[in-house]
Formats: sequence, structure tokens, C-alpha cells
Amino acid sequence: MIVHETAPYNAETTRADLAAHAVTPVGLFYVRNHGPVPEPDPAAWRLRVDGLVGRELVLTLDDLRSGLLEQHEVVATLQCAGNRRAGLIAVRDIPGEAPWGPGATGTASWHGVRLADVLAAAHPAAAAAHVGFEALDRSEEADPPQRYGSSIPLDKAGRPEVLLAFAMNGEPLPAAHGAPVRVVVPGYIGARSVKWLEHIELRDRPWDGYFQSTAYRMLPVDGEPAPGAGFALGLVALNSDVLVPEDNATVAAGPVDLRGYAFAGGERHVVRVDVSVDGGAEWRQAELLEDLGRWAWRQWQLSIELPAGDHDVHVRAWDSSAATQPEDPAGLWNPKGYCNNAQARIRVLAR
Ligand code: MTE
Repeated sequence: MIVHETAPYNAETTRADLAAHAVTPVGLFYVRNHGPVPEPDPAAWRLRVDGLVGRELVLTLDDLRSGLLEQHEVVATLQCAGNRRAGLIAVRDIPGEAPWGPGATGTASWHGVRLADVLAAAHPAAAAAHVGFEALDRSEEADPPQRYGSSIPLDKAGRPEVLLAFAMNGEPLPAAHGAPVRVVVPGYIGARSVKWLEHIELRDRPWDGYFQSTAYRMLPVDGEPAPGAGFALGLVALNSDVLVPEDNATVAAGPVDLRGYAFAGGERHVVRVDVSVDGGAEWRQAELLEDLGRWAWRQWQLSIELPAGDHDVHVRAWDSSAATQPEDPAGLWNPKGYCNNAQARIRVLAR
């Protein structure tokens, strides 16, 4: 792992490990924490559901696992809003924010119950429009220091893909990824997939806490983080990167294997990935690898003939709304360094 911070622990998957696995092994999955990892006693853990509900609930882990509620499995990619921030920092420094490369993303098979089924048991009131999630970890980064919390619109919360997950790739959810129970919101930025969940609150407005009202918002170039400034991030924007070979790699002239990932986010899916080895003059279509379903990334591969010399490799994905990626990160720069989805560019020397 490439460790950005040890306390709190923040680490991303290497390019080689991302490329090697369609489903990211648990031990290689990126970790994004805003505070120390809590380790609650699973037997004493309770999930409160309250706010704008007809019936408040207090659920145990056994209530969720016992089969009273149907169990579901969803293969979904999580992607942090800070993924590929390093590309924005190269445009202009972003003090205080970690230079994440393309490894603040990963794909896992999540197992749990549908949030929709838990909400239905609580009978949301007519005024409920948002679902807030509050966690056990306390973040000193927040202003003022507070427990991690966030929310999603009730419309999304009611969708079958949104899970309260207690297993990841067939193993009990590890502490670093939110044990005993986390939210998984496919298609949304990772920040909404709240780990170490403890409290669900039905609300008429989004969560008021720091991680919804101040952080994870897109600010204008001259903006300053403040409650309500900019707009809240939600759906992930189409993104892709080249993972193999590394930037500035030297390879043998002749056929070279290029590999990477592409992720559409939202309700969209990846339909095509184009690769150019001459700085964007001509494009070839890459082969899309295993289709893991509508909430997962698509890995891609292209074997291409590289004559001896320097090659500027550019990659762009297309999604089902016919959107493609912006050419240059310069126009995407923002004060917190979120959502860099510019085309990937690497230089490869063939000799
Ligand atoms: N949930 C809690 N309770 N605390 C956190 O710091 N980080 C969020 C989200 N959920 C976070 C959290 C962010 S920003 C991301 S990108 C994802 O968790 C990362 O999930 P992972 O560490 O399992 O990869």
C-alpha cells in the first residue's frame, strides 16, 4: 500500500495491485479515514433508526444477520472524491490534502441487508427527504471535532443497491472498512458510504455535520471551505486511469500491454475506452474486461505496437450518457482537490 498518513491511517492501492485484480482483495483495498478506527464490541453494538419516522428502531447485529431481513450481495466500486488528486496538485499545490494517486478506489463484493428494508420497517414520515448516517469514529479534522456523519437523498436510500453491509468479499467486514456494519452507496462518492455506522436519522434536509456541510463540496477556484459553501458532491463522475505500465517506464520496443480501469459512477456504465500513443492524435479502442455488473468499474487492456522512442499515452473513457473525460486537469482545479477525472497521460520510453 502507498501510505499517505498513519494517524489516522490513510493508504491507497498500488497501480500494479489495482491492475492485477478485478475484485480488489480486502487487504489491498484503499483505506480512507478521518479519525481513529473504532473497534466496538459486536455483541453490544446497536443501530438506532429515528428522526422523521413512524416507528423508531433499535437493531442488533443479529437482527441484521439472522435472515429476518433478506440478505443481498452487490459488487460495487467505491471511489473517494480525492482519487487522482495528485494530478490537480501538479497544476497548483493544495496544502493539507493528501496527494492520492489512482488507488483511492477499489471494487468489492458487499454483503448485507438493503437499507430500503430497514427504512420500510421504520415507516418514514411524508416530510422525510434525506437519510443521515452517523458513525462511531470521532474526527479531530472536523471543525468543531465531531463524529463522522453524512447523508444521501431518501430516493437513493430506497434503491435496492444501497446496503448496510457486514461482509466484504465473503469475509466479515474488517475493522478498517467499518466493522461491524457500514453503508455502501454504489455510484456515489466514497464519503457517503459511512463506516462504523451507529445511527440512521430520517431528515427533511441533508446532514448538518462537517463532512456533508463543509467537506466533500465542490468550491469555486477562489472559494474557501465553510458551511454551505459550494455544492455537495454526490454522484461519481466518469473516470479512468492507465495502471500498467507506470509513468516514465522503459519497455522493450514491440507489442506492449497497456492496462487500466474505468468507472462511470452514478447510474451510468462504461461503454468504451480509447487509448492514444501519440498524444491524442489517433485513438484505438481498448478491450473491456470482465463485466462485474452495473455498479462496478470496468478494467481494460490493449496490446499495442510501440516502435523505439518516446510515446505520450493518453486514455479516455466514454459512458452510457456519451460523456467522455476532460482533456486537461487545469480546468478542474478546485481548492480541496476533488473529482479529478481528466484523461490519464503517461510517457513510455520504448527501446
Ligand atoms: N466513514 C466513517 N465513519 N469515517 C470515515 O472517515 N471515510 C469515508 C467513507 N466512510 C469515512 C467513512 C470516505 S471519505 C471514503 S472514500 C470511504 O469511507 C472509504 O472507505 P474504505 O476506507 O473502506 O475504502
